[in-house]
Amino acid sequence: MPSIKQMFENNRNWSERVRKETPGYLESISYDQRPEILWIGCSDSRVGPDQLIGLPMGSVFVHRNVANIFATNDLNCLAVLEYAVDELKVPNIVVCGHYGCGGVKAALEHSGVQPVDLWLDQVRFVYNRYTKELNMLSPVERANRLAELNVESQVHNICRNTIVREAWKRGQKVNVIGVIYDIHDGLLRQLGTEYSSQEVWETSYGEAFSG
Ligand code: CO
Repeated sequence: MPSIKQMFENNRNWSERVRKETPGYLESISYDQRPEILWIGCSDSRVGPDQLIGLPMGSVFVHRNVANIFATNDLNCLAVLEYAVDELKVPNIVVCGHYGCGGVKAALEHSGVQPVDLWLDQVRFVYNRYTKELNMLSPVERANRLAELNVESQVHNICRNTIVREAWKRGQKVNVIGVIYDIHDGLLRQLGTEYSSQEVWETSYGEAFSG
């Protein structure tokens, strides 16, 4: 298992390798960042975006928390979204959930302790909305389906937010999509629609919650 000593050693090796193999690279990205993706993912140690999507440094602006929640009353989430959209003009927002999510399981089992249990109320809101569908499934399927529904719900929280709505209104390019990651095969799969405007979002959201 990695230790702190190992961490520093790996870092020195990495820095040396990068500077040797691509001279000037670190210097070239030191002035500015122009990320193409705002990634909102789970804190789970197996789902770090740097490895999953293999994009170079400077491409992904990252926010991670337990169960990849975008809570509309959480200052941290709001600050990240505002900075990404208003300052960095990041054109793509990706909410990434994953199967086998401990946060989602804990939300179903009420097994956590404060404050994580309180945080996971955000996932229970989603569960409460889809109780009928979810209760027909086995416990493993239920947690996995809830992980998918949680992603879609967080996507809607983002699209509903004034930061994104104002950006769409002024014609700024902002695409919001939800994806789910399968730890078993390492693949990402898109969930639902890609929302690229207020109209697209309203139509889809209306359909999803009318029936
Ligand atoms: Co998780």
